[in-house]
Amino acid sequence: MVLIGGVTVKRTCYNMVMADNLSQMLQPLANELRKASRVLCLTGAGVSAESGVPTFRDSGGLWEGCRPEDLATPEAFGRDPEQVWRFYRSRRAKLLAVQPNPAHEVIARFESRFDDFHLVTQNVDGLHQQAGSKQIHCLHGDIWIDRCTECGFERRVATVDEPMPQCDRCGGLARPGVVWFGEMLPDGVFERAVQLAADAEVVLVVGTSSVVYPAASLAGLAAQSGAFVAEINPNATAFSESASLVIPVEAGKSLPELEKILDISTSD
Ligand code: OAD
Repeated sequence: MVLIGGVTVKRTCYNMVMADNLSQMLQPLANELRKASRVLCLTGAGVSAESGVPTFRDSGGLWEGCRPEDLATPEAFGRDPEQVWRFYRSRRAKLLAVQPNPAHEVIARFESRFDDFHLVTQNVDGLHQQAGSKQIHCLHGDIWIDRCTECGFERRVATVDEPMPQCDRCGGLARPGVVWFGEMLPDGVFERAVQLAADAEVVLVVGTSSVVYPAASLAGLAAQSGAFVAEINPNATAFSESASLVIPVEAGKSLPELEKILDISTSD
């Protein structure tokens, strides 16, 4: 862990001092980013929290009071596709009402700031794409895709109409184009993410509890490969102890501040 000003500050104290010290806390990360060309950002549900999208495991999160295995497994879909579709229709409907927040926007702009910038996300909400991210690798699929369970045909949707969508090509039952627990990640995407994590000089781990594998292994791999790995998350996670630096502040505050620091140093 990098200690700010050489003082060990317990995480619980950070929240009280962070407003004034955010810029100071971000300096070690800004210093690393100024020298870096290969930068990787790993995101989870927390990056969309300030857009109004619930996370999974926080209080009030999507998994509170329900079991993921009842809603996000192939077995659950096989047992009760209508129940699973109700869950995904309700998530899609909520997403129609939200917009990318400043954290998504800064991440999108980082693509043009660094020679080689990539985003690997566990999110399926489409907000990174809406904010303009192009170098994006989606580990857990895309909630706006319907995929046929019979022939695999995929179509992109933008509305929430059909209760149980059918395939345009063969009429089979479609399912959401996301990765469920117990399923393989999309072909080649994780392999590419591993390569990016191993090659990165600086990694930003933003808004993930780092408990879902294999996504959660990427930050550790980057750290072992010598990257400076900064975690941006208001709460401690399974990865915090291994991070080079922890910024315990919401992504929508810390990323714009980080961009401001980098802009100032560029204009010097
Ligand atoms: P989680 O809900 O597990 O974790 C969200 C993280 O975001 C927590 O660590 C929060 O502290 C943090 N957080 C909350 N608000 C934040 C903010 N404003 N800025 C920064 N961080 C914030 O979500 P994920 O780690 O994304 O998979 O979950 C991983 C996977 O588990 C998901 O992709 C999904 C889920 O089950 C599948 O459905 C397969």
